[in-house]
Amino acid sequence: QFKTDVAIIGSGGVGKSAITCRFVQNTFVEVYDPTIEDSYRRGITVDEEHILLSIVDTAGQEEYRAARDQQYRQCSGFVFVYSITSEASAENTIELHKQLMKVRNPIVPDEVPIVLVGNKTDLEDRREVPKDFVKSFCSVSRRENVPIVECSAKTGLNVDEVFQLMVREIKKR
Ligand code: GTP
Ligand code: MG
Repeated sequence: QFKTDVAIIGSGGVGKSAITCRFVQNTFVEVYDPTIEDSYRRGITVDEEHILLSIVDTAGQEEYRAARDQQYRQCSGFVFVYSITSEASAENTIELHKQLMKVRNPIVPDEVPIVLVGNKTDLEDRREVPKDFVKSFCSVSRRENVPIVECSAKTGLNVDEVFQLMVREIKKR
């Protein structure tokens, strides 16, 4: 059986834990409890293959940066999450990706599998981040093709797709 490790990265409060809990337990928690670091496992079938995913839910708060660098070294794929209601959180994915590139130092950025995720689509009326944000992410980050998915941990919309895309990106390499 194929096993792989993915890390969920992004600013505090964007919904990294909520996405992980929706995917692993199919639940949603309204109260905000900042994460230090948690790990989860779930099997997923992608293109008729069963895959065991280890998910590291990282801390968005900057004081835990050292733990994030450790995951940058260890994991095979990275899910970069912003909230569609926060322009600053989207800009921060660019900065966090830069830190990942510093740690991994690939010949070309596309060697390191990532997925970009805009969460909280249930709050469309508070949208600050345009749907084509991935274009600026790609040009600033010097990547050709980054899979993007907008989801809602609250409703569950597109949450499985996040992990399907992540596994496909890892398997491509
Ligand atoms: P850190 O652990 O501090 O990095 O934050 P986080 O990214 O894990 O955020 P978390 O999942 O804890 O969610 C922060 C807040 O946003 C909580 O109050 C969640 O209930 C809320 N939230 C998360 N996802 C969604 C969503 O899709 N829609 C809405 N409306 N709220 C959400
Ligand atoms: Mg969290």
